This record gives sequence, C-alpha cells and structure tokens, in this order.
Amino acid sequence: MKILITGSNGLLGQKIVYACLGNYLNEVELVATARGENRLIEQNGYTYHSMDISSKIDTLEVIEKFQPEVVIHAAAMTNVDACETDKESCLINNVHAVEFIVEACNKIGAHLVHVSTDFIFDGLGGPYAEDAEPNPISYYGWSKAEAEKIVKEKSDSWAILRTILVYGVADHMSRSNVVLWAKGALEKGNPINVVDDQYRMPTLAEDLAEGCLLAATKKANGIFNISGPDYMNIFELVNRVADYFGLDKSIVHRTDSSGLNQPAKRPPRTGFDLSKSRSILGYRPRSFEEGLAILEGQLKVQS
Ligand SMILES: NC(=O)c1ccc[n+]([C@@H]2O[C@H](COP(=O)([O-])OP(=O)(O)OC[C@H]3O[C@@H](n4cnc5c(N)ncnc54)[C@H](OP(=O)(O)O)[C@@H]3O)[C@@H](O)[C@H]2O)c1
Repeated sequence: MKILITGSNGLLGQKIVYACLGNYLNEVELVATARGENRLIEQNGYTYHSMDISSKIDTLEVIEKFQPEVVIHAAAMTNVDACETDKESCLINNVHAVEFIVEACNKIGAHLVHVSTDFIFDGLGGPYAEDAEPNPISYYGWSKAEAEKIVKEKSDSWAILRTILVYGVADHMSRSNVVLWAKGALEKGNPINVVDDQYRMPTLAEDLAEGCLLAATKKANGIFNISGPDYMNIFELVNRVADYFGLDKSIVHRTDSSGLNQPAKRPPRTGFDLSKSRSILGYRPRSFEEGLAILEGQLKVQS
C-alpha cells in the first residue's frame, strides 16, 4: 500500500517513518513529506518530497504526483500558545491546509487519516468517547475542531484519530514534550512548578504512529480515540517520570493553571475511552512506564 504522510519532520511524522521502515516494511511504500529539508537521520528506504501544506498549489501537486492510496495528515501548528497569539498562521496551517488535503485526496480517490486532539473539548466532562460534543476553549482547539468538520463534511473517505499529550524522542526536534522537559529540568536540579489540575492520558509517539498505520492499512472509517491507557494529572506525570529515572522529586512543586499565565486556556480534564479503537483497530497502547522504558532506550542510543 502506498501511503503519503504530511509533517514527517514532526514527532508523530518521524515515528510513522520509522514504523514503515520497521514493522510495516513489507506492507507499506512510504512517501514522506514535510516543510523544507528532511530532518530525519535515516534518509533511505522511503521517498522524501518537501510539501508546505499552507500552499494549495504545493499540496495538490505533490499528492497528485505520488497518487497514494492513503494520506496520513500528521502536520499541524501544534504550539497551543503560538496559535492563540498568531491566529492567522494557525488558521492557515490547521484549517485551510485541511481543505487543500481533503480536496487533493478526493481528486485521486485517496483515503484520509486525519490527526486531531483532545483540545477540541472543554475538559469539563472527560474522559471522552468518540461521540462526545466538541467545545474548544482555545484557538488551537477551535482550529482543530474546524478541521474535523471539514474532514467529516467534505472528505469522501476518512478517519479522524484524536490523541492526547504526545511524548517521545525524535531526530532534530523542533519542539520538546512534557516528559523530556521534566527529565531535563530534574537532571539539572532545576526546581519546577507543575500543575495538578490538568488531567491527561499521555501518549507514547510510537503508539500513536501505530494507531495511524492501523487506521491507514485497514482504511478505517470514522472517529477513533488514540492515547495512552493511564489517566493522571501533570503533577503526577512528572512525579512518575522522576520515580522512573530515579530523580529528586522534592524540587517538583505543585501549582494550578491559574498560576501559569499562559496565553491559551487548557482543558482541565480530558482523557479518552479507548474501547472503540481497541476493538475495531486492535490498538494496544503501552502503559506510561513501558513508554518511559522505550524512551530511555532511545536516549541511550542517541548519547
Ligand atoms: N504533541 C501533542 O501533544 C499533541 C496532542 C494532541 C494532538 N496532537 C496532534 O498530533 C499531530 C502531530 O503532532 P506532533 O506531536 O507530531 O507535533 P510536532 O512535533 O509539532 O509536528 C508537527 C509538524 O507539522 C509540521 N508543519 C507545520 N506546519 C506545516 C506546513 N505548513 N507544512 C508542512 N509541515 C508543517 C511542523 O513542521 P516544522 O517541524 O518544520 O515546524 C512539524 O514538524 C498534530 O495534528 C497535532 O495537532 C499533538
């Protein structure tokens, strides 16, 4: 099966590339696309082509050129506060770009696997099932909810995969994530303030990539929740990171969201009911500590 992915330089995009060179080697012919140069260390075993999804011409030309059977849309403007302060860029990259991708997929009859977020919810009623009603409280959340509407209303063949707080290690990353941030700060002995009023189900990037490839190879239809299985607040998460790596927890200080002064609001309690993705896709997420063990192994290889 020929699969084209967007955002192959991102955390999820990279994990999809590496899964296609690993477990899916005999099943998938991969076309990886991203903005600018390919930043992956491994550059063989797949085709790379630059594609800026904010350009309609670029997006239509590249997708039509490669004629994939499935497109996995992993690119997005993901910095929630930057989306709040630069709404125009967020609108172009997270909403208009999805219009272009849907149009290109419909033109060539490709199935679309679109990646979305728990931030489409207000966080008052989590954990959420797939049919829960979106009610975003940030511009990023709004942009991703709009993108979902476009996919549902305009795409001829689609799956939407929603995920939560993705963590992992990647090559030349443009953004860090909560696990690497906490581990780095605690190793340096820097005291950190961590919120205890935001509940999430943190997702190992490899598990999300696997969810995307399960949905792609099965050409699954509809909405699927794809996250880790463990529900915790961010303060607990950081404490579990400290426990796992044997770091000093006494410098982790409890705070609440009101003390952070971030431009974008965060939903207090998200989390997902995973029963649909487990039964229909055969999705099997790893526990948080299993995820940390995988990340630890990758950090050892890098150093
Ligand atoms: N990370 C999370 O905690 C989280 C949580 C819920 C949902 N999600 C969703 O999961 C998906 C994957 O996110 P991620 O964790 O892999 O984030 P990421 O590491 O920030 O990757 C996103 C990638 O999108 C690329 N991108 C942005 N604008 C682009 C454009 N105009 N053309 C081409 N590429 C563009 C970025 O390119 P550059 O590297 O060049 O900037 C980046 O590599 C996104 O849909 C996101 O909304 C993520």
